[in-house]
Amino acid sequence: MCGIVGILGTHQVAPLILESLKRLEYRGYDSAGIATLDEAGHLGRRRAMGKLIALSDLLVSDPARGRIGIGHTRWATHGAPSVRNAHPHQAGRVAVVHNGIIENYRELRAELEAGGAAFETDTDTESVARLCDRELAAGASPLQAVRATLARLKGAFALAFIFEGEEDLMIVARRGSPLAIGFGQGEMYVGSDALALAPMTTQIAYLEEGDHAELTRTGVRFYDANGTAVIRDIVMVPVENVFAEKGPYKHFMAKETHEQPIVLADAFARYLAPHRSEVHLPEEVDFAGCERIVMVACGTAHYACHVAKYWFESLAGIPVEIDVASEFRYREPPVGPGTLGIFVSQSGETADTLAALRYLKGRGGRSLAVVNVETSTIARESDVALPILAGPEIGVASTKAFTCQLALLACLAILAARQRGAIDGAGEAGRVEELRALPGLMATALTLEPAIAEIARDVSHARDVLFLGRGPMYPLALEGALKLKEISYIHAEGYASGELKHGPIALVDEAVPVIVLAPSDALFDKTVSNMQEVLARGGRALLVSDAAGIEAAGAGAWRTLAMPRAAPLVAPILYAVPAQLLAYHAAVFKGTDVDQPRNLAKSVTVE
Ligand code: F6R
Repeated sequence: MCGIVGILGTHQVAPLILESLKRLEYRGYDSAGIATLDEAGHLGRRRAMGKLIALSDLLVSDPARGRIGIGHTRWATHGAPSVRNAHPHQAGRVAVVHNGIIENYRELRAELEAGGAAFETDTDTESVARLCDRELAAGASPLQAVRATLARLKGAFALAFIFEGEEDLMIVARRGSPLAIGFGQGEMYVGSDALALAPMTTQIAYLEEGDHAELTRTGVRFYDANGTAVIRDIVMVPVENVFAEKGPYKHFMAKETHEQPIVLADAFARYLAPHRSEVHLPEEVDFAGCERIVMVACGTAHYACHVAKYWFESLAGIPVEIDVASEFRYREPPVGPGTLGIFVSQSGETADTLAALRYLKGRGGRSLAVVNVETSTIARESDVALPILAGPEIGVASTKAFTCQLALLACLAILAARQRGAIDGAGEAGRVEELRALPGLMATALTLEPAIAEIARDVSHARDVLFLGRGPMYPLALEGALKLKEISYIHAEGYASGELKHGPIALVDEAVPVIVLAPSDALFDKTVSNMQEVLARGGRALLVSDAAGIEAAGAGAWRTLAMPRAAPLVAPILYAVPAQLLAYHAAVFKGTDVDQPRNLAKSVTVE
């Protein structure tokens, strides 16, 4: 949610900043901008509305000179997307880029305006630039001015400042939002994540919560929240974290959907024992004294928790509570030493999930993070962090991260069952072999793409779509609806199929496709009865099942999609494929921006 970059370079930095911003564009694409200091130390800004390509064009017609600069790609929070509201913001001698929200900006703005400041934007960030400039004008050094500014700010932020006349200085700060510092040969870099800096360096240090830092080309000085000089470790970011390319695919979402058999196989290579039918997880993962699990996440990651609830409860007999992270801490749930919090996040930076983790830790709960980005804040702040090994996910709509989250959560549920004596060796072996079969089943499911695309052509004309599922397929129905909404902008809702007759059935008519996710399992007959209720009212149902299920359901469905037969444990992971492909092709037919859908961003670092 907003990406920021800073470079203290030895060459012209504008092209490098642009390249880094490209890697951060998943965090927002409402506008973009850069500020540089030219050889004479003068500040210059270039800003453009819309995606980065507009800034790139502007820089061709109006190049920005300088060996030091900051850049920003925006997901608008305060102030509509426009050139005027685009970052960097400048006041007098200072330019700043910001990721996050300054919660007390109204009060700061009123104070500054009362002192004669003439604001040029509707943003919260301009107050930061103006506060800092006021300090500089009063004689403070840049470091003193930034410290005085930080002391006035409430909210969550990552900030990078440059100063007119200071060609070898950048000051950065972090409270709430992540910030990585990269080390180069006589160059220093700053980025919202390490991926942004990957072409320039793999040596990264992370600002800790409350830190600020002063960078020159020869190094960095870190200070903690009290202003005390501190040392932050430099870590090597794995080379495979380099920016993903689309390859032969038209969109990252298509590529990431098709990568699922491979990344799932990679995940199982890590989390299933090589020569035994057992799960294989680090020793610190301990469910023995666990009285209850709370699983907290947002969006698609929350639906992964919802599926896993069924697994933990049915396999291991542990009560599981799930919540969306934006609600969790505000309802002040009790947490004790017997509570294990599982926090699921692709980015590992989602502000609400991080706040929920801190809430639980603050009340004595144990924490386990399930993340894709191993160096993320949620990973670093959890007692134990396990990577889902999905590789970089660039498409804003989550695909492979969801199925890799599920794969790891399934392994954890099996481990929990073993540790609590709820499963014997044969039972564990059976479940493990079911997981091992999943990548192959996924590859088969992906071959159904032409048939799914045909169905998606019809679905793309619908105004409303319902998804139904029972048991662990219920969260899949929610996920299918979310995917369709996000990228095709078709209104869709997911329901537990038994709930249909308690209200939503009123929506059913021939214009509303009803997508029924029903593998042939113990709940199949009940779900098909709910489908019959739709058909009896003239509704159009798409039955997604296996060949046996489709045969058993008999005629009457509008369309059928025959999936490979899957064991109940893996069916919810497998059935993500038709949900993803249906949304993808409906979006392609509608001509929407699949990888960067309107109003959305990945890595939501604001509440
Ligand atoms: C949907 C999607 C979002 C994320 C949510 C949580 O396709 O991607 O709903 O799942 O914003 O993000 P993470 O997993 O990064 O915490």
